[in-house]
Amino acid sequence: MDYLRIEGPCTLSGSVPISGAKNAALPLIAMTLLAKNDVTLNRLPAVKDIKTLLKLLEHLGATYTMGDHSVTINTQNIIHTRAIYEIVKTMRASILALGPLLAREGHCEVSLPGGCAIGQRPIDLHLKALEMMGAQITIKGGYVYAEARQGLKGAHIIFDKITVTGTANIVMAAALAKGKTIITNAAREPEVVQLCEVLRRSGVGIEGIGTQELVIYGTDRRLIEIEPFEIIPDRIEAGTYLCAAAITRSRVTLTQVRPEHLDAVIAKLRTMGFGFETSADTITILPTQQIKPASIVTQEYPAFPTDMQAQFLALSTQAEGTSTIEERLFENRFMHVSELQRLGAEIRLNGNVATVVGPAPLYGADVMATDLRASSALVLAALAAEGTTDVHRIYHLDRGYEGLELKLKALGANITRLQE
Ligand code: EPZ
Repeated sequence: MDYLRIEGPCTLSGSVPISGAKNAALPLIAMTLLAKNDVTLNRLPAVKDIKTLLKLLEHLGATYTMGDHSVTINTQNIIHTRAIYEIVKTMRASILALGPLLAREGHCEVSLPGGCAIGQRPIDLHLKALEMMGAQITIKGGYVYAEARQGLKGAHIIFDKITVTGTANIVMAAALAKGKTIITNAAREPEVVQLCEVLRRSGVGIEGIGTQELVIYGTDRRLIEIEPFEIIPDRIEAGTYLCAAAITRSRVTLTQVRPEHLDAVIAKLRTMGFGFETSADTITILPTQQIKPASIVTQEYPAFPTDMQAQFLALSTQAEGTSTIEERLFENRFMHVSELQRLGAEIRLNGNVATVVGPAPLYGADVMATDLRASSALVLAALAAEGTTDVHRIYHLDRGYEGLELKLKALGANITRLQE
């Protein structure tokens, strides 16, 4: 198993290119199930989760050709409709196959994804919405059996909670349904927006893109023609590099990024004392000598993202004073706290609120990654810690960060990938 060895503390400098967004790429790959042509996705991030979803599509009968950061997918010969446990268990986002597969084939079976390191993560809202669209859903033997032999019908879906993959799933299902679907309380994340925009360019009528209410006019099972497109930049990868620069008090420029997708993150870093220079597709963060404490509440986009909570927690350990970080989306997303404590962080956890007292001197230690963003928080803390930190179980990082150690090394970090 690979691990990362980081010698700290370090100062970073230079620029870092941001990859395509994993969480945009996943629904867009699932979306190719709605296409009648070969679909090319450019700026594909080279991360494990993408390979997993491609493997799932291949299992269903799709074929694909990889290019340099691109993939062309052909879904013309879907021969299976079962998303098997062996693949789904390794990546929850496999549930994104449910909506498009059911809409296209009229039936499918998708393994229940189960809980994960950050919480229970139910899919009840996906299932309820599909039932409202006329699907018959049964759960047996760990699988969701979904049937709509005559096709799905448009409906008015009101999500009780804002759900990102839930919205994506229902948008894809609605694209091939008969009639009009309204989604109230839809997710507004840039990744959902891109899915809707690509579908709209492919001839699906969609109104309200980027708002809390989407209206989708389905094609009644007519497959669509999807032109090649480029995946948006990964705002969470970008935010992670901003935190890497911040915690090491460095000046770093992110390139190929969309600054407007990072408004909440940049605003929070400004209140912590950091300065910025931005252009249409670059962000430069300027160092500060005195990091101010933060008060953070995670919420749905456009508010502060849960996927940046762990990285800001690491950064807060170096702030002068007491920070509070409240996690509102996932009930168990503080697994990094005990590992950060191993490095010397002073953090008290009370339910879903972490109180961080800084600045705490950090010292290198062995730590264990528990989920994707928790892993990146450990890397950030290690960059600021005195001495050697070994971050174990980095397969979590490989699921969502393209070449993290290579990008950090290019910025001047002393970081090496080793094998246990
Ligand atoms: C997406 O997960 C992202 N994953 C997550 O990224 C991200 O943390 C999350 O959205 C929130 O922004 C992908 O895009 C592939 P949700 P998702 O459904 O869609 C509850 C990362 O590190 N809920 O928006 O699974 C749920 O339990 C990650 O890249 C229900 O109760 O999240 C949570 O409390 C991990 N029932 C809240 O809604 C449902 O049916 C939001 O979850 C669905 C969700």
